[in-house]
Amino acid sequence: MPTISYRLKTINHQLSSSPPLNACLNYGILLIIMMKASALAHPNIAFIKYWGMIDEDRRLPANDSLSMNIGCLSTRTAVTLDPQLSEDVLVLNGEAVSGTAQKRVQAFMDHIRQQADNPAYTLVESTNNFPIGAGLASSASAFAALALAGSTAFGLNLSEKALSSLARFGSGSACRSIPGGFVEWHTDPETGESYASSIVHPDHWKLIDCIAILSDEHKPVGSEAGMKTAESSPLQQTRVLDAPRRLEACREAILQRDFAALADITELDSNLMHAVMMTSDPPLFYWHPQSLALMKAVRAWRAEGLNAAYTLDAGPNVHVICTQDSMGEILSRLRHFPAVIDVITGLPAGPARLLT
Ligand code: PMV
Repeated sequence: MPTISYRLKTINHQLSSSPPLNACLNYGILLIIMMKASALAHPNIAFIKYWGMIDEDRRLPANDSLSMNIGCLSTRTAVTLDPQLSEDVLVLNGEAVSGTAQKRVQAFMDHIRQQADNPAYTLVESTNNFPIGAGLASSASAFAALALAGSTAFGLNLSEKALSSLARFGSGSACRSIPGGFVEWHTDPETGESYASSIVHPDHWKLIDCIAILSDEHKPVGSEAGMKTAESSPLQQTRVLDAPRRLEACREAILQRDFAALADITELDSNLMHAVMMTSDPPLFYWHPQSLALMKAVRAWRAEGLNAAYTLDAGPNVHVICTQDSMGEILSRLRHFPAVIDVITGLPAGPARLLT
């Protein structure tokens, strides 16, 4: 990493040109500076969703998935190693957080500590520019940024593949926020290799994700807990068995910039995931009545000739994917739609990156 090699050069220079005591002090100060890294990552919206795992310990998903990173939404995370700490400290949007969120971060940092063979605890400071826990994939950008900042702070120089593989231990979909643009997450159940890679760069197709916010409240059941019951739905096996066909159709639609084909397969896949959620034991209902009203409206708008398609993650908010020529009209309709409290827009975005 350029920042780190620059700092190492600075340390070497100071060690050779200063008296021993000063050198030690400089070394100590600079080493602490070096053990901090910051990164930014975008959330992603899946056209072909992941829901359910075949191996929870190895975090292997039941099916491959395909998504697009969402520009304008981002998480920025700084990780600082602190030998004084007896546990990881999490500060989220300026407030110290304990409980489940802190434990989840600490469990994730354990993977990094193990890889780096360094037991140090860390201060993790993270900010989001969008509501968290409301089905906007905040855990994807959060753990992608944490994987990059955390591994860099510990001096690991991981490849994109290794970072993506690591990020999925925080949140499955986080592995898709490491590479840029349109991204596929593949798994080989035999070898246990599971990571995401770009199929095309963000400029390939300037689709817009118009996110209609119906609620910015924290969802009662997060996706990590929710998907543990996926197998209890009699529909899950059918959904998973048909996933390779849907993924292929979706990839083709993106490569050909075929909006009609993308709309059909994206809506089908979203409906299938929610059908599994609603038929699991206990059933999970993430939609609000207005989510369904909006989904029906989007289909009617498409029948009128507008390029718009819906997809929903584990929350009530509706992602309306559209093309540039339809965006103005779609935005105006969304802003006037009953119960829509805000509309956030994002173009396809690049990969997770280090911040200096
Ligand atoms: O990344 P997780 O483990 O929080 O699961 C997210 C799953 C969905 O967002 C509902 C679907 C997906 O593929 O992004």
